[in-house]
Amino acid sequence: MYGKSLLLVSEPSLGADETAALADVISSNWITMGGRVAGFERAFAEAHGVGDAVAVNSCTAGLHLALSALGIGSGDEVIVPSLSFVATANCVIYTGARAVFADIESLERPLMSLADAEAKLTPRTRAVVVMHYAGSVADAQAWRDFASRNNLFLIEDSAHAVGQDRGPIFGDLAVFSFYGNKNMTTAEGGMILGRDKAVLERTRRARAHGMTSTTSERLNARAASYDVLSLGYNYRMSELNAALGLAQLPKLAARNAKRRLIVQTYAEAFGKRPSGLRLPLLGHAPSAHHLFPVVLPQHADRSTVMSSLYEQGIQTTIHYPPIHQLTWFRQHCPGVSLPVTEAFGARQLTLPLHPKMSEADAEYVAGSLLQLLATLAGSGT
Ligand SMILES: Cc1ncc(COP(=O)(O)O)c(C=O)c1O
Repeated sequence: MYGKSLLLVSEPSLGADETAALADVISSNWITMGGRVAGFERAFAEAHGVGDAVAVNSCTAGLHLALSALGIGSGDEVIVPSLSFVATANCVIYTGARAVFADIESLERPLMSLADAEAKLTPRTRAVVVMHYAGSVADAQAWRDFASRNNLFLIEDSAHAVGQDRGPIFGDLAVFSFYGNKNMTTAEGGMILGRDKAVLERTRRARAHGMTSTTSERLNARAASYDVLSLGYNYRMSELNAALGLAQLPKLAARNAKRRLIVQTYAEAFGKRPSGLRLPLLGHAPSAHHLFPVVLPQHADRSTVMSSLYEQGIQTTIHYPPIHQLTWFRQHCPGVSLPVTEAFGARQLTLPLHPKMSEADAEYVAGSLLQLLATLAGSGT
């Protein structure tokens, strides 16, 4: 075992500021949809160079609202990557539309392939969701051109790409995640940014049942009642989550810079010996450096690698089992074949990457993996 405890793939960075922020909410006696939620929306919008933002209780909820606000529904098709978290496809299915999976470019560039997306177009295609895998931001100009050429809405699943390093948003809407393993966290939570004020406003209303006012607005305005203007959901963010967000946001840039440093350390360490390992998206810019994915050589059995590394105090995970190969999707969206995604999904491994890691930790992980691959190559395993 390395050090005292397991080196985790991701870890939240929480401390005294977050404890104090949560205690303040409790003392305030106003625990949901108040000044902290509004303040977090303003601060997040400002940090991303836009005028407004809508806070929700998860990125999944935000993606659902984004598609609904654009009028996506039954009879429509939405192109999504299969190399993503299942939420990317689920949010399409919630609207009644069909999720159409596109392949990735290559094992070195596991971002959704524009050529394959083009091949998946039908007269029913209404939108495309791009996902910034591992924090590597997809090609803004190319996807915008694709969307305008084909009269499609463009949505960014920006769960992995939080922070200014990602550059300005280029989708009609972009949705971020603050889940516990993300670059900044509110435990659970998400944020929607949008280019069109009216569309963003529709997501704000639909996050709270389509109501014309919130509880605190009615209290402040002494308004007796409210109306409901559209079908909505309970996707509200609590003051506790927003307080965490307000404490985390000022530290995001420094933490993303630390992530970049750990990635550079990995790159140098892996560059020292040939191993047959691929390091996808290394050097890709812009990036929020959310994950450090590798692709194992053919000879290395992934579960053997994962359990050997675990014994050496290193957690590894998989991003992702392709969505179209998951049982529910095989049953409900059958007949999908995406050779590059499938090859990537079978050999990909995610190594630890978070701001609490030291450069020595990254060198230890790289050294352990290189040694293991050399042993496996030698034994013919
Ligand atoms: C690519 C991607 N999309 C969407 C989500 C959903 O985010 P949330 O857990 O905030 O709903 C995640 C979360 O892990 C993700 O990684």
